[in-house]
Amino acid sequence: MSGKINFVITPGRNLSGSIKVPGDKSISHRSIMLGSLSEGITKVSGFLSGEDTTATLRAFKEMGVLIDEHDPETLTIHGVGMYGLKAPKKPLDLGNSGTSVRLMSGLLSGQNFRVTLIGDQSLAGRPMKRVTKPLSLMGSNISTSDKGTIPIVIEPSDKLTGISYAMPVASAQIKSCLLFAGLYASGETWITEPSPSRDHTERMLEIFGYNLVKRNSKIGIIGGGKLIGTEIQIPSDISSAAFFIVGAIINKHSNLIIKNVGINPLRDGVLHILELMGAKIEVSNKRELNGEPIADISVHSSGLKGIRIPEKFVPTAIDEFPIIFIAAACAEGETILSGAAELRVKESDRIQAMADGLERLGISVIPTNDGIKIKGGKLRGGNINSYGDHRIAMAFAIAGIVSAGPVIVEDCDSVKTSFPNFVSLFRDCGLNLEIENG
Ligand code: S3P
Repeated sequence: MSGKINFVITPGRNLSGSIKVPGDKSISHRSIMLGSLSEGITKVSGFLSGEDTTATLRAFKEMGVLIDEHDPETLTIHGVGMYGLKAPKKPLDLGNSGTSVRLMSGLLSGQNFRVTLIGDQSLAGRPMKRVTKPLSLMGSNISTSDKGTIPIVIEPSDKLTGISYAMPVASAQIKSCLLFAGLYASGETWITEPSPSRDHTERMLEIFGYNLVKRNSKIGIIGGGKLIGTEIQIPSDISSAAFFIVGAIINKHSNLIIKNVGINPLRDGVLHILELMGAKIEVSNKRELNGEPIADISVHSSGLKGIRIPEKFVPTAIDEFPIIFIAAACAEGETILSGAAELRVKESDRIQAMADGLERLGISVIPTNDGIKIKGGKLRGGNINSYGDHRIAMAFAIAGIVSAGPVIVEDCDSVKTSFPNFVSLFRDCGLNLEIENG
């Protein structure tokens, strides 16, 4: 990640009107991966051209896939088939993107060439054994650093064999990795999740003509089939929408509509949690786009109350906790989260990063091993360390619109990983954000 920039936020006007946020990050990654391995052409629209998804796109180009970029959101992928990828000339640099590394570890385990996966400093701190361990059980010739992190090196293996695997944590990245390896494995690969995680991989595999088997809480895939190129229209990312949803809730006199947002039931935990806190949210114009439910989301300023967040919503709101914590800081009373230890191994330790930032803004918090307690109050201004984490940076930018003094969020370049037009959209909504060099 290049140059350090800070966001300086001062209160602006209410958030009103209709906006559109960029394409879904998870679905964008998967469209490149499956489009590349397909036979024939895949046309993608609504692609998120953030740094994470561009890292995936570049990696597949480096493995010989021709991808026409008509504009940042519209691509034509000339699929090379299941065995058409070529050995890249150098290690594949996946930047900040955990999704790229973990999902690609699965599909690259089935190739007949050696490949090394590397990334930035934040990615280098994230656990990779969670994917390399089950992949090794399938026969993948895969290794990590001694610390269980990148670089990941994958050597050709004689043969992958399907396994039955009970995942220790609810993680769509582990599940998707194993499904991708399962495409190349002999026999059946069965995966059990402790609780359901986002199912974009399963939905998209079906769109590419690959059938899965679902039995009780297990998902099965039989290797050896093929994928057929198709058309993928990507909905707007609910994880990006969440920042503006909370912005409108906590800012007075706001009425905001966010169009065409993916509302996959395994991603919409943020809406349920905010509603439990008293937020006025309407989901209308529900429809389907390539097997994914989408809708328009209307949100109005609302008084919020603290709650104990039901643990069943943790996997379905996993990326939205930074902004949910900002909502909790603005609520009356205490909000308690538990069962969310995974937050400690995201792009930063999101429990600690949010606790540090909220304290700087005068909010009393108690971080715990697997969650946090936040006592709602009045936010004051202050300097916030984003720890180079896009979602921490954007969450505190939203906090700045209701803080008593300016909020300076440090090290915000990372916002480009998932929300390249965050600053312009923030300003288009009538909010004040200046950029200074850090
Ligand atoms: C993702 C899964 C989640 C999420 C990440 C994207 C995906 O990670 O946090 O931003 O696209 O599969 P985990 O699988 O580690 O929960």
